[in-house]
Amino acid sequence: MKKDTNIIYNKSYNITTFGCQMNEHDSETLAGMLEELGYVEKPNRKEVDIAIINTCSVRENADKRFFGTLGQLKKIKEERPETVVAVCGCMMQQQHIIDTLKAKYPWVDLVFGTHNIHQFPELLANILNERSKIVDIRDDGGDIIEGLPAKRMYPFKAYVNIMYGCNNYCTYCIVPYTRGRERSRQPENIVNEVKTLADSGVKEITLLGQNVNSYGSSSGFSRDFADLIYMLNDTDGIERIRFMTSHPKDLSDKLIQAFKECNKLCNCIHLPVQSGSTKILSRMNRKYSKEDYLLLIRKLRSAVPEIAITTDIITGFPGETEEDFDETMDLVEQVRFDSAFTFLYSIRKGTPAEKYTEQVPEAVKHERFNRLVDRLNEISLEINRSYEGRTVFVLAEGQSKTNPRTITGRTKTGKLVNFKGPLKLAGQIVPVRITEGRTFSLFGEVIEEKYR
Ligand code: 5AD
Ligand code: SF4
Repeated sequence: MKKDTNIIYNKSYNITTFGCQMNEHDSETLAGMLEELGYVEKPNRKEVDIAIINTCSVRENADKRFFGTLGQLKKIKEERPETVVAVCGCMMQQQHIIDTLKAKYPWVDLVFGTHNIHQFPELLANILNERSKIVDIRDDGGDIIEGLPAKRMYPFKAYVNIMYGCNNYCTYCIVPYTRGRERSRQPENIVNEVKTLADSGVKEITLLGQNVNSYGSSSGFSRDFADLIYMLNDTDGIERIRFMTSHPKDLSDKLIQAFKECNKLCNCIHLPVQSGSTKILSRMNRKYSKEDYLLLIRKLRSAVPEIAITTDIITGFPGETEEDFDETMDLVEQVRFDSAFTFLYSIRKGTPAEKYTEQVPEAVKHERFNRLVDRLNEISLEINRSYEGRTVFVLAEGQSKTNPRTITGRTKTGKLVNFKGPLKLAGQIVPVRITEGRTFSLFGEVIEEKYR
């Protein structure tokens, strides 16, 4: 590639993404930038000119998977040394990871972090021109960069970042160190992006942030998250609005009211509780008690009929006793979550909980984890069975990965539904009668001839 050439042809890329929706969306941005440069995506990273790994550092097993994937790339680099290997994402914001990369993986061409994704084309051009290695990590988010391209997975649904970073410092969590301080996008910029998406055929948006409920607060905006929902609810063409993730301490009555008044806001919420023990919640620095959480659930359920509630729960946080774990099981019994992501506590370097002395033995952590998952699954199955015989509206996404004759999509409550139907339904909202509720999904049939 010549120095002054912007567009190149017949070059390909592959991005491996670990972690949350934020990371997925960052990868969509990287893909968008590469496609603007003329690169095409290929599914097999053995064949590409640029292989990127976008990393996650939330739990230790994510670190292990990253180094495993990097090991595979080493072979590719030996066979095809001209392949550019780039690594980015949350792990790169940790100094010990950078030190390890420099010491043990010197063949990696480009290392960048979560704060300079927008500079990727420039960094790549430098690599291609100079053929030297680049490690460029920023400590601070700086200004929010608007207008970056994105290659989205579906034409009819899209992620929209509304804020970056996190100020909460939960004592187990690495995110405030890897994603920086909380900063919010201007409401007008978000509204304009959503309008553009709607004009291009997007029907469903998912607003992203580590704690969307505190949107605007640290940026001094006069409009808060609920105001933003009201603004977006007026967008022609958008039919469904979702958001991820909420912190219970910041979930306002105004947002609960917005659920009642905004017809496009989906009746589902992911509300990570982490533990049912008030003592553990305090050691986690979560700033709410078990009772506060249960009160929130009651408010949500009385305001929003049939709201689906999902959560995150950690087992084996330092100092968690059998009594504390019983509190979690009791909370699960009272709330009856639609589903939950469950995690074994994993020590993260640099977090306050790393220093906590009362680490729970691995075997105890696992035993509690299994007991918790078993009960959560039973409840999910009971809730999903209660859908049997009802008609739900499913935004059809495409073919099921396991059965090509089956279409898969989601209800407004976020339930995964599989049903027989033609592929042309992708992107449409289809009425489906549920015939069977399973633990992780629903099965159904289309009830109107025109959708068959
Ligand atoms: N160990 C286990 N789980 C964790 N999470 C975050 N940090 C850790 C950790 N150190 C979980 C929390 C969070 C989710 C994204 O990951 O439950 O909500
Ligand atoms: Fe991590 Fe807590 Fe911030 Fe969520 S709210 S990203 S768990 S520090």
